[in-house]
Amino acid sequence: MTPLLAVKNLAVRAKMHGHEFDLVEDVAFSLQRGEILGLVGESGSGKSVTCRALLRLLPGANLSITSGEILFDGRDFAKMTETQIRNERGASVGMIFQNPASHLDPVMSIGDQVAESIVLHRGVSKAEAWSQTVDLLRQVGIPDPERRARNFAHEFSGGMKQRAMIAAALACDPQLLIADEPTTALDVTVQAQILRLLMDLRDKRGLSIILVTHDLGVVAQACDSIAVMYGGRIVERGPKRDVLKAPFHPYTSRLIACQPAHGLGAGLLPSIPGQPPSAGDMPSGCRFHPRCDLAQTSCRETVPGLKERVSGHLAACPITEAGITEARP
Ligand SMILES: Nc1ncnc2c1ncn2[C@@H]1O[C@H](COP(=O)(O)OP(=O)(O)O)[C@@H](O)[C@H]1O
Ligand SMILES: [Mg+2]
Repeated sequence: MTPLLAVKNLAVRAKMHGHEFDLVEDVAFSLQRGEILGLVGESGSGKSVTCRALLRLLPGANLSITSGEILFDGRDFAKMTETQIRNERGASVGMIFQNPASHLDPVMSIGDQVAESIVLHRGVSKAEAWSQTVDLLRQVGIPDPERRARNFAHEFSGGMKQRAMIAAALACDPQLLIADEPTTALDVTVQAQILRLLMDLRDKRGLSIILVTHDLGVVAQACDSIAVMYGGRIVERGPKRDVLKAPFHPYTSRLIACQPAHGLGAGLLPSIPGQPPSAGDMPSGCRFHPRCDLAQTSCRETVPGLKERVSGHLAACPITEAGITEARP
């Protein structure tokens, strides 16, 4: 089956104080229709830059896409003109963020904000847009939507704001939703409800979703597949079950070991010793080698590429590849 989205060799470069360095490099993955992909990694690993690059909405004028293809339904977003890509945003791909409040207009009713984007993209009358808005708000689980549509953002709880953002993102019936840490700012119960909603939308609409999270529990619950980022590169990807059960990259193993279910109880969670690298100051070779128990000299010298280890499950670690049984963490 041809995937809905196929990203190949994507790189994003920053220019700062006369220096140039890659924030994201060699990123490749694909997404089927109706698939939920979890993009995970510590803070600063390049998850948001990658997501924004897909829509060419880079978070800074000093950033640019320097290579790669972003094939969406056969069209290459990377090669489009500004006008063309603008038409794809919203219409083909919707996006939601960690902090719904900062993306909602405080002086416009929730309903007007959703209706505005319906009018813009669907070219319907205001009255029609309003009735579609109420319907959308109902679909994302906002109770009493006729009344709630007239509320302002401050009258919504955090979870309800995120639901409203999801409604706005769905206003133009996109095939793909990019959700960048959509539940990070919410408490655990609400987080589970929003995940449930995303999964329902996938089931009912066949929506594909890229779900960015630093929480492997979220991945375990909601995703079909997973891509693990470290230092601007994908170091492991594959079906969720395989990656979580039998990771091949030492970084993935460490991340899994740091999840609460595997920890020693509250407050005693192990964390990965050392700091993640910062963009512009990446270690040579494998970006993880300074923190890796298995690192050997070669890890300092060569940047490992992803290799398929078992069907559909790839990892970028020649050490565990060379001696899967002995060296595997
Ligand atoms: N405009 C920018 N200029 C320079 N570096 C940036 C810029 N935006 C983000 N970065 C850097 O890119 C790296 C990846 O950031 P990001 O994608 O936001 O990480 P994540 O979402 O995984 O936490 C970080 O090191 C961040 O500091
Ligand atoms: Mg981020």
